[in-house]
Order: sequence, then C-alpha cells, then structure tokens
Amino acid sequence: MTRLLVRDLAQLVTPSEAPPPLRGRPLRDVTVVEDAYVLCSDGVIEAVGRMRDLDPRSLGSLDEELDGRHLCAVPGLVDCHTHPAWGGDRVEEFSLRAGGASYEELHAAGGGILSTVRATRALDERGLRARVELHASWMLGDGTTTWEGKSGYGLDRDTELASLRAIRAAGGVPTWLGAHAVPPEFEDADAYLEFALSEVLPHAAQVADAADVFLERGAFDARQARRYLEACRSNGLSLRLHGDQFTESGAIPLAIELGARSVDHLEATGEGGARALATSDVVGVLLPASALFLDRPMPPARALVDAGAAIALATDFNPGSSFTTSLPLVCSLACTQLHLSPEEALSAVTVNAAHVLGLAHDRGRIAPGLRADLTIVAADDWRHLAYHLAGDVVAVVIQGGVRRR
Ligand code: NIG
Ligand code: FE
Repeated sequence: MTRLLVRDLAQLVTPSEAPPPLRGRPLRDVTVVEDAYVLCSDGVIEAVGRMRDLDPRSLGSLDEELDGRHLCAVPGLVDCHTHPAWGGDRVEEFSLRAGGASYEELHAAGGGILSTVRATRALDERGLRARVELHASWMLGDGTTTWEGKSGYGLDRDTELASLRAIRAAGGVPTWLGAHAVPPEFEDADAYLEFALSEVLPHAAQVADAADVFLERGAFDARQARRYLEACRSNGLSLRLHGDQFTESGAIPLAIELGARSVDHLEATGEGGARALATSDVVGVLLPASALFLDRPMPPARALVDAGAAIALATDFNPGSSFTTSLPLVCSLACTQLHLSPEEALSAVTVNAAHVLGLAHDRGRIAPGLRADLTIVAADDWRHLAYHLAGDVVAVVIQGGVRRR
C-alpha cells in the first residue's frame, strides 16, 4: 500500500456534493477547509480534514509527506475539450490573422483545419504519438489530471484510428471527431459521411468513448450532424457537438433531442438557445480561450448560468483557434470575460467537466473514496488560480496518488 499525506495546506477547496452536473446555487457553493490535510492511499483519497483533527497515531506508515504550507489544494483539473492529435503548426496563419485575415476565410480557402489535416497525415503513428504525448505533458504541467482528446485532423481511416489510439495511450479519453471538416478527396459532406460512417465508425467505436461533430456554416449542417450522431449513438458512443461557434445552426435543439452529453462553444447562442439549454440535461461547454484567440464574442455565460444551465469550461486546445493547454488561464478568462465567480469557474473545470466525460463518480471533487487527483496552487488563497493571469500558479500535481509535477 502506498500512502501520501499532504499536510498543513492553507486551504483545501472542493465543489458541492450535489448530484452533477451542478447548476445554480450548487455551482457556486464550494467548500473551503482552512489549515487542511489530504491523506491518499493507493491512488484513492482516504481522508480529508482539518489539521487539528488529524490524529498522528492513527496515520500508520506513510511513504511520502508533502508540506502544504502557503499552498492550496483544489481537485485535479479536468479538461473536457481538447484537440491534441496533430502535426505541424499554424503559426503562419496566426500571423495572417494578426494582419486581418479571418479564421472562416482561411478555412474556406483550404487553409485552417485542412492545413493541419495535411500535416497530420504526413506523420507516421510513432510521430503522432510523440506529438500527443508532448501535448499531454503540457496539460499535466498546467494542472490537468484528466483530459479528453478529439481526433479530427486525420479524416481518413488510418489517421483517425491512429489519433484515437495515441490519445488513449497518452492517458486521454478519446472522442472521435470524424465530422470535423470535409477532406479534399470527397466531393461534398454527404459523400464524406458515407465513407466515415461505413469505413471508420465500426473501428473508431472500439477505441473512442464519444463522438463529436462541427455543426457550422462551411462544415456540417444539422441534417448531416443528425445522421452522423445517430449512427455513432447506435454504435455505443456518447455524443458531443461543436455548436453555435459562428452561427446558431440548430446545435442546441439537436443536442437536447439526441441526449448529447454537451454542446460546446456557444459564442453565437441567443436568448432562446440559452433558455432551451437551461431546461435540459445537456452541459454547455464554454471555451473562452478560443473566443479570445480568434477575437470573437465571448459566450453568454452569465445568462446561461443565471437561467439555470449546467456549464463546464475547457481549453479547446488546438493549433488553429486556441493554442493553450492552461485551465488556470481559462479560469481567469471565465472571471474577467464571462463574469463567472472563481467558485463557479472551479466547479466548471472539475466536477462538471468530469460529468461531461462520464467520470464524475470517481473524480472532480476532493472527498474520501475518489481518485487522488489534486492540483496544488502556489498561493495562500485558492482563488489565485483564476486571479493570477497567466501566472505560474500550479506548484504540484498529484495524479492517482502519485506526484507528477
Ligand atoms: O473547436 N471549430 C472547430 N474546431 C476547432 C478548431 C480547429 C482548428 O482550427 O484547427 C475548435 O475551435
Ligand atoms: Fe473544439
């Protein structure tokens, strides 16, 4: 048995125990324990409490002790929306956009996502795995202990499957984003979907947990998204959607009708969409780093939360629209741009993000019996996680009871 004691923490913070996904009051009701400890045993949290209630005689043998003075523990951060499987980069496009070119124009001209598809197809499986591992190491360094990763830059059978395997091998939760863009060898979206659903889905469903689609002008429309998602659901995959990024194209009603886990982006969502989402079980995943990176409007987060919607926050890490793996930065943006409180942001990057991945039963909070995933913040007040904009706020990362940073 391996046992680790994190002692003398300035604060320990954990979201509400209400059943996830949290919304309304439970979303902002976090518990803060001052002068705290966490005892981890074989990768699981054994006990949590105040130092004054810790009886040293009851501790038994310890393998490691961590001095938590001037540090705070929050649950290991969960990034429920990333695109980590790609080759090349988009720095040239970044420069063009800085000069005024728009993301959608570049995409329509065969750049954007399709330029990353060309670079990703050029990698062999070893090369792709090396890239995914590198990106996973960046996430861990930023305090992320659980992450979802999407394919979607292969768009042929072998590269899509290699992407999903690479994500699984690097410790991620794979999502098949088979409907990300229409690759150039197909005449149109319908012809591509015909291929993807007959040739790729049966294999992708063996590796992936979920399926995702880019429902947007210039990508896939609502009819095509429905066809793709229904086929994926029949093959046992959970459903996610990229929706309302640039235009309201029917993603929210479709997500609700099909019982999707989440609808992600929502920068273009209006009042009707916010109301519909709020009365459903679908989580709205907000990606403010992507809106910032593309200089797009921020999603109506405050309106969503005030209407009672369940929200999560994620990085959308990818080379084109959000080149960051930092959930602490996303929490800063949530507070400064989305007008969420640090408490709401914390619940959104922990328990609610875990719920989107179907993992809230064993992670997303700090409580006995849950996986010993802790992100230790380098400050006396845990809110520095969001307050210190782009700061070096992650002091220690514990994943499954093992110190990883
Ligand atoms: O979530 N919007 C579609 N897909 C990604 C961006 C992909 C890219 O630009 O390479 C996103 O923003
Ligand atoms: Fe995305």
